[in-house]
Amino acid sequence: IKTIIEPFRIKSVEPIYFTTTEQRIELLKQASYNPFLINSEHVLIDLLTDSGTSAMSSRQWAGIMQGDESYAGSPSFYRFEKAVRDITGMPIVIPTHQGRASEKILFSITGGKGKYFISNTLFDTTRANIEFSGAEGIDLLCEEGKHPSIPAAFKGNMDVDALKQTIERVGAANIPMVIMTVTNNSGGGQPVSMQNIKEAKAICAAHNIPFFIDACRFAENCYFIKLREEGYANKSIKEIANELFSYADGCTMSAKKDAFANIGGFLALKDEALAMQCRNLLIITEGFPTYGGLAGRDLEAIAIGLNEVLEEPYLQYRIRSIEYLTNKLIDAGVPVMQPGGGHAVYLDAKAFLPHIPPQQYPGQALVCALYTEAGIRSVEIGSLMFGKYDETNNLIPAQMELVRLAIPRRVYTQSHIDYVAEVIIEVFAKRNNIKGLVITEEAPMLRHFTAKLKPV
Ligand code: F0G
Repeated sequence: IKTIIEPFRIKSVEPIYFTTTEQRIELLKQASYNPFLINSEHVLIDLLTDSGTSAMSSRQWAGIMQGDESYAGSPSFYRFEKAVRDITGMPIVIPTHQGRASEKILFSITGGKGKYFISNTLFDTTRANIEFSGAEGIDLLCEEGKHPSIPAAFKGNMDVDALKQTIERVGAANIPMVIMTVTNNSGGGQPVSMQNIKEAKAICAAHNIPFFIDACRFAENCYFIKLREEGYANKSIKEIANELFSYADGCTMSAKKDAFANIGGFLALKDEALAMQCRNLLIITEGFPTYGGLAGRDLEAIAIGLNEVLEEPYLQYRIRSIEYLTNKLIDAGVPVMQPGGGHAVYLDAKAFLPHIPPQQYPGQALVCALYTEAGIRSVEIGSLMFGKYDETNNLIPAQMELVRLAIPRRVYTQSHIDYVAEVIIEVFAKRNNIKGLVITEEAPMLRHFTAKLKPV
């Protein structure tokens, strides 16, 4: 049998709400053309993010009831700690309320003016936390990763030659760590190969630079390694994950992704001295080290989720459903990032809307068009998210203008996905009518969350 089915059945359902085109035109205007500002009751299919939006399993809900809410020494923490240790091999596990809290703690301690953090691609909150500390973030994505329409097996890889040159240029002493994001969210959810991780680690080790993993989507990355990298076909996801983390000195994790939790995260480390500093800051900002900003029940849900995500029928269905949507769009001539990523389909807005210049945010224009057409919410990953200004206030555009349709885990069925494909193909047919946008209000950092825009 060739059909890959959802490896679950549905026990509890949640309604989704229909709106009319006229209502959506008005709602979008009220939201200043920024779907982050739309009430989710007015969204039909919400592909804004795969973060915190997963459907938990019956086992996770059962775990919630077992959560022990003791302030200190909760058995839920020890189950959580064991699950993290089993996968990462890291002896020190520090719970946080989500990924960016781990980042804030880590970069507050290791960052600062004159420091450089190097990555394949830093996620927006990761970059923001680095910059907030006064340090600078440098993305060194491999060449294949920069061309959405050209498929390659590991488009999330870091350019290791550029890594060597950058270390020469800024000096190893000024690099607190190199961070590999797996999968590479901002670069299309593309995986990083084990080979690339090994090479980056070796370069870091030669210069005494700690090597960290941003592990939000580690299981999806490991599944791609199993499918695409020689020597891994017969290994379990757990074995691949164990190897991947063995090269790292530490990792940050948002449990809102590959742990199927609605909230949570952690920082896992090998260095006891650094861990001591992190825990001190944790107590001020998150909580006592055995709960770190989470309820005991959240720790249980994460511990169980971390084991469920290693199951191959799940990962096969997960990766296949993204590929299914990607391929439907490719067949219809829609420009998409190829091949499909691990958690999302990325439309190439530059190619989709060539008549809209980066200064008029083609990605955001496409996001708005998908909402207006059929109530689908997506997110721009382009010049609205990553654009900067030069001294004369001209926009320095992002490398790519992408629109991400992130698929929440275990939430939507194949007919929802078929609907999404039909809508995108319909919008593609009408693309010449889509107009660009200009910003009317923006924050100095992470502006995409709150920016207000209007049509040109
Ligand atoms: N790193 C990566 C690669 C991420 O994708 C995210 C979050 C974070 C760190 C921060 O984790 O949200 O728990 O604080 N990404 C979400 C997204 C928000 O929509 O891609 P967090």
